[in-house]
Amino acid sequence: MARKLWAKRGLAALATGAMAVSLAACGGEGAGGGAGGGGGDGEEGGLVGVAMPTQTYERWIADGDAVKTGLEEAGYDVDLQFAGDDIPTQQSQIEAMISKGAEALIIASIDGTALGSQLEQAAAADIPVISYDRLIRDSENVDFYVTFDNYEVGVQQGTSLLTGLGVLDESGEPAADAPEGPFNIELFAGSPDDNNAGFFFDGAMSVLQPYIDDETLVVPSEQTEFGTVAIQRWEQEGAQSRMEDLLTSTYSAGDTNVDGVLAPADVLSRGIITALENSGYGKGDLDMPIITGQDAEAASAKLIVDGKQYSTIFKDTRLLAEQAVTAATSFLEGNEPEANDTETYENGVKVVPSYLLPTVIVTEDNLEAELVESGYLTEDEVASGQVDE
Ligand code: BGC
Repeated sequence: MARKLWAKRGLAALATGAMAVSLAACGGEGAGGGAGGGGGDGEEGGLVGVAMPTQTYERWIADGDAVKTGLEEAGYDVDLQFAGDDIPTQQSQIEAMISKGAEALIIASIDGTALGSQLEQAAAADIPVISYDRLIRDSENVDFYVTFDNYEVGVQQGTSLLTGLGVLDESGEPAADAPEGPFNIELFAGSPDDNNAGFFFDGAMSVLQPYIDDETLVVPSEQTEFGTVAIQRWEQEGAQSRMEDLLTSTYSAGDTNVDGVLAPADVLSRGIITALENSGYGKGDLDMPIITGQDAEAASAKLIVDGKQYSTIFKDTRLLAEQAVTAATSFLEGNEPEANDTETYENGVKVVPSYLLPTVIVTEDNLEAELVESGYLTEDEVASGQVDE
């Protein structure tokens, strides 16, 4: 419904507004107009609100910066806010964006189910809402979703865990010289209030479960349910403390070691690595387990080069930001953004048309090519584990 209203609004603007003329003349520049003030650098764009969850993760800072830059280059003003992973803060930031006259909203939610009333306000004001990376659930008022192929991310995490253990070869096929196993693994999942977390876990388990069933893989803690292994709010400390608990409860006798850990995000991997190192892994003949990740954060790229983390999943946030800008621009010009998936992302009320981007498994072998040569991270950032300002 909101999308239809939007299309209508766009057409009305085209029919009557001087803005339409400048839009057509300037080709590709931001449309909109009305409340929200003039565009950056004197361009005639409206205001776009960009709500990001937190600055604790490198990736969201990169996302926020890239979306802001892209929108400004398209001639829009941008209100970029980070919510410190606090739901009421994000709710009030979005309300403030609406009252400041935002003409479109791009939202990476903290809790995907907690924005219903803000999105009702947005719909009432005919503001198109783009769900960014994480699906906003239980609301009719989500117009578009830009993300990565989240199930495939999980498949890649599961695959890279098996490759690291030597069960699969580089191409993801059963390795000819696979060691016998069994391998002891532990499973982690992301925040239960993030729709992505279930997709990642299900994707990973689709690859791992057959190997658990045939006992190539063993989960000594027996903790295999999403609800048990999920880490609330994707907190590094939460992952560290769960790993510490597992080491105490299941591995303290000294006759069982951890061979692999399914970690769904780099920050969690780092918490897990800290717990393992504190418990003696990575020293003497106690090797660091194979540990997965996600986001290609500089801090984890360094850990991969240092041999402490095995893999990450590279999600090029520059491309995601570009999709978000394209979608916002499209709505603001009275068009529908182009979706490449209209089936997968049911948000509890409707299937949200989506644009999914591909992802890449990164290990030490292709880190340079994928992350450095593509300009995503610099040599320095990989070497220091810190993002240059
Ligand atoms: C994102 C991941 C990220 C995680 C924690 C998820 O919604 O898709 O890329 O690692 O949130 O911030």
